[in-house]
Amino acid sequence: MRKIFFAIFTLICYLSFAQKNESLAKTPPMGWNSWNTFETKIDEELIKGVVDAFLKDGLKDAGYTYIVLDDGWMAMERDAQGNLVPDPKKFPNGLKHLSDYIHSKGLKFGIYNCAGDKTCGGYPGSHGHESQDALMYASWGVDFLKYDWCNTQNLNTEVAYKTMSSAIMATGRPMIFSLCEWGNSSPWTWAEKIGHLWRTTGDIYPCFDCEVNHGTWTSWGVMKIVNMRADIRKYAGPGHWNDPDMMEVGNGMSFAEDRAHFALWCMMAAPLIMGNDVRKSSKETLSILTNKELIAIDQDSLGIQAFRVSKKDSLEVWAKPLVNKEWAICFLNTSKKAQNLNFNWLANPIVDSVFDYSLNMTGTIFTVKDLYNNLQLTPTKKPLQTVIGAHDVLVVRLAKKKD
Ligand code: GLA
Repeated sequence: MRKIFFAIFTLICYLSFAQKNESLAKTPPMGWNSWNTFETKIDEELIKGVVDAFLKDGLKDAGYTYIVLDDGWMAMERDAQGNLVPDPKKFPNGLKHLSDYIHSKGLKFGIYNCAGDKTCGGYPGSHGHESQDALMYASWGVDFLKYDWCNTQNLNTEVAYKTMSSAIMATGRPMIFSLCEWGNSSPWTWAEKIGHLWRTTGDIYPCFDCEVNHGTWTSWGVMKIVNMRADIRKYAGPGHWNDPDMMEVGNGMSFAEDRAHFALWCMMAAPLIMGNDVRKSSKETLSILTNKELIAIDQDSLGIQAFRVSKKDSLEVWAKPLVNKEWAICFLNTSKKAQNLNFNWLANPIVDSVFDYSLNMTGTIFTVKDLYNNLQLTPTKKPLQTVIGAHDVLVVRLAKKKD
């Protein structure tokens, strides 16, 4: 009896006192996840190929760090001691070996599981095994856990995620904790203290603005995701991010659509988790994914998510305050036809009333840099006039002009 009381007491203590490691995700995490392209068809050779691509194609240099194994890495059953077992065919050398390989290249290792009895793919879930699984991940050198929400029956969302978060923290190994309950219980209102990122919607689909009905669930194109959660930017900031899902850049949209998708993710200070087959990225795809100036917008240390300033005739203006009183502005054409842009900076002061920043160009001149084309445009004294192609963007960075 005493033992039981002691165990309950210890559990209550660490549930109430464990503190999330904020410094792990001061800026949105960057990496790659296997799901969007490979679903459960993953193995050691694939992951080693991904690691090589990170080094060869400059992805690591651009800031991508985490390599995350999504659903499908496990055997269908736990072992006799209740431990999770990596699928011996897919990972014949085990996951410590893979993790050591990833670490030896200066990268970090992420893994997936689920709060329910089974994962979405039907593999063993963590419900009732949270501490045991967390200790196993720590022994493998896991740095990032994505935690899904299938087969959870009547579980309370907040309690289930708190339990896993505490189990991770109790291992003493720093791990990013990524909540994936699709925004159903508004995790942005309660998860700041327990996780570093939370999915805001159901799964992404590689299209600009479609939705795909799968019977019991729906997946969403880029603009559907952007529009579905227009009002939650105030909940994101250093250490805790809104996660609009892994990216689909390089997965079948047009070059312009991929550019727009990446720009929007950077503007939204989203985690930049690639979802394409990075072993075979085209030059165009790589040029987007490794654009250092776009990435700098995403990784800006103020950590403020952009807001939509205006939307008129399928032309949207998005703004993101940056450090040193600079700004990123994204002009987005959501129509299927090219559109003229004629934006008079002086007549359009931009005000971020949530984070209390404003950009008034009447007294100050700003330089305007087109980030995708690496071009200085006319400073803000004159209107910005150009053409934006169908489903494309113009992303500029504004900085005070030096005399
Ligand atoms: C859910 C998640 C996806 C992926 C799959 C794996 O659908 O939202 O991102 O992890 O499960 O089964």
